[in-house]
Amino acid sequence: METLLNKRVILKSRPGVNGEPSEDNFGVEECEMPSPASLSPGQVLVKNLYLSVDPALRCRMNEDSGVHYMSAWQLGQPIDGLGGVGEVEASADSTFTKGDRVSATFLWPWAAFFVIDGKHVKKMPKELFGSEPSLALSLLGGTGLTAYLGVAEKGHVTPGSGQTVVVSAAAGATGSLAGQVARLLGAERVVGICGSAAKCQFLEQELGFDAAVNYKSGDVSAQLSKACPDGVHVYFDNVGGDLSERVIEQMVPNGHVILCGQIAVYNKDLPYPPPISPTLQQLIQDRNITRERFLVLDYSDKFDEALAVLSQWYLAGKIKVKETVAEGVENTGKAFVSMMKGGNVGKQIVKVHNS
Ligand SMILES: NC(=O)c1ccc[n+]([C@@H]2O[C@H](COP(=O)([O-])OP(=O)(O)OC[C@H]3O[C@@H](n4cnc5c(N)ncnc54)[C@H](OP(=O)(O)O)[C@@H]3O)[C@@H](O)[C@H]2O)c1
Repeated sequence: METLLNKRVILKSRPGVNGEPSEDNFGVEECEMPSPASLSPGQVLVKNLYLSVDPALRCRMNEDSGVHYMSAWQLGQPIDGLGGVGEVEASADSTFTKGDRVSATFLWPWAAFFVIDGKHVKKMPKELFGSEPSLALSLLGGTGLTAYLGVAEKGHVTPGSGQTVVVSAAAGATGSLAGQVARLLGAERVVGICGSAAKCQFLEQELGFDAAVNYKSGDVSAQLSKACPDGVHVYFDNVGGDLSERVIEQMVPNGHVILCGQIAVYNKDLPYPPPISPTLQQLIQDRNITRERFLVLDYSDKFDEALAVLSQWYLAGKIKVKETVAEGVENTGKAFVSMMKGGNVGKQIVKVHNS
């Protein structure tokens, strides 16, 4: 009989708190294929279909993750990420049967097959995810929730009030949705900032952003003031650092910053959220700008409501979802490194097995 082997990703080395992650930090090892007979009561054996790679995982490459909700990865040990979609191969939990599609937003191993407690995964409704299971990692998962709840809870977007909303990392997973959400919730003008001309074109031509600014080319402040003639009312900040300082300088009094992420400084040894300059602090105070940290996990009571709105919009064709798909569990580290450097448009996922 053919012996099935399993494959998983391990952490081979750390980039250092001030280093850029590289493919070499990740290794792949063959390991034993879990057998259905070895399952303990309550466990399920899952075939991985898709997994998610996320900027938040960068802190797990350090010896101390620095955050309360995620632990550091251990050297030489298998890695788990923030989400995935799989198919149940065998179950010792009466809630699941072979062939069920399951997903989770935490504790998702970067492995071809794995065993997990049934209580850590949930069944995916077929009517919503039938032919597009990876939606559970983009629009109808943590990414969509972050975009929607970030704008809804911290953006103060008011229909008819003529607001301009600026989004950074706008062609990425969260940003591409956040700009569309802002428009659907009533923003007058939506402007994206991203790292290439092709991404600008994607935002303007495929997603209907009013303008897009390439922060890697030319004078960002000048491009931004041209794109936002009435100033910036709301800023969905995925990036932080100098770029965000340039945006906040152009904000109107009583504006709102949605402090979603600060990827520009994830390869620096700084606390989260990182400190801002005294000049920027003063400007925020003088203009009465709100700048509150947003963490999607703080809004779990609103997830169902938010997912209902997002799926309605999707089924009505009002919101578009873009994915960049890498193939093979062995390429997960590479996909993560690429995403951190802007190699993705929309949500970066890894396809592990055909669905
Ligand atoms: N608060 C929360 O609960 C929460 C939840 C999920 C995600 N987040 C945050 O949301 C942000 C986006 O996450 P995501 O999963 O949607 O990733 P993503 O935007 O799909 O991918 C990251 C993007 O960041 C951009 N980037 C990388 N380095 C940059 C730099 N130095 N300056 C400007 N842009 C840079 C790259 O695009 P370019 O080509 O444009 O450079 C890259 O594509 C991250 O900061 C993440 O931590 C927060």
